[in-house]
Amino acid sequence: MASTKSASPRRVSGVDELRRAVRASRRRGTVAFVPTMGAIHDGHLSLVRQAKRSSRFVVASIFVNPLQFGPTEDYRRYPRPVRRDRALFAAAGVDLLWEPRVEDVYPPGDRTRVHVSELTEVLEGASRPGHFEGVTTVVMRLLGAVQPDVLWLGQKDAQQAIVLERMCADLLLPVRVRRGATVRENDGLAMSSRNAYLGAAERQQAVALSQGLASARVLLGAGERSAAKLAAAIRREWEGYPLVREDYVAVVDAATLRPVRRVEGRVLIAVAARVGPARLIDNIEWGPK
Ligand code: PAF
Repeated sequence: MASTKSASPRRVSGVDELRRAVRASRRRGTVAFVPTMGAIHDGHLSLVRQAKRSSRFVVASIFVNPLQFGPTEDYRRYPRPVRRDRALFAAAGVDLLWEPRVEDVYPPGDRTRVHVSELTEVLEGASRPGHFEGVTTVVMRLLGAVQPDVLWLGQKDAQQAIVLERMCADLLLPVRVRRGATVRENDGLAMSSRNAYLGAAERQQAVALSQGLASARVLLGAGERSAAKLAAAIRREWEGYPLVREDYVAVVDAATLRPVRRVEGRVLIAVAARVGPARLIDNIEWGPK
């Protein structure tokens, strides 16, 4: 984790204040945007660092979006270490930190939702009904407020990135979407704010997700092209981890998210599992871009 000593970025919460700050900076070069729900880790910080390399001004947001949590999900207990988040963003060189209140994003009388069809009905969308409508609706609003040139998203949430890329293209939004690679702990566990829910034994077993994907990658490298055999290899790996309960193991086309029987074009191998109180996801992509 990065050092936390650095000048704090300017902080704003209202949309007008945000727009004034971004407008003043836009004259000096491109504006990049890293939206987050806080509980910042090295995955978020690596997006900020990449954004800084190609844009003059980096805006980050922290907003735990109630609309993307189901009624039985973790909205209330989602970690909110705000002071630590601010310090980490400061150290990473964020220029402007937007911390909207719920009413800034969902003004009184709000009636508008954004829905991307098909891509949102599978994988995470099938397990978490309404989740993606919450994500697309909030990201559309965040983009409308910040109006960045570049939007940075993490590959760890691959389906989210695919859905948001589709939304930006379909709605002709003047923003370029860039994905940053998944950042992993030393043992391979993908960094996620929800890793904080894991107890010691669960944390040890959570490595099953990345290990299963690593086994699939080895098989792909050795020429295996059957989706069923790749999925079976992941499940075999998970047998050694009794605290890991599968939600899904899927081999899908990396653009359409439709299941494939054989790996021919570019595929996404996506997995989701419950490990104790945490629901974790991970993925790899394979094949020509
Ligand atoms: O990936 C996340 O943290 C959230 O889904 C996002 C993109 C910030 C929207 O709330």
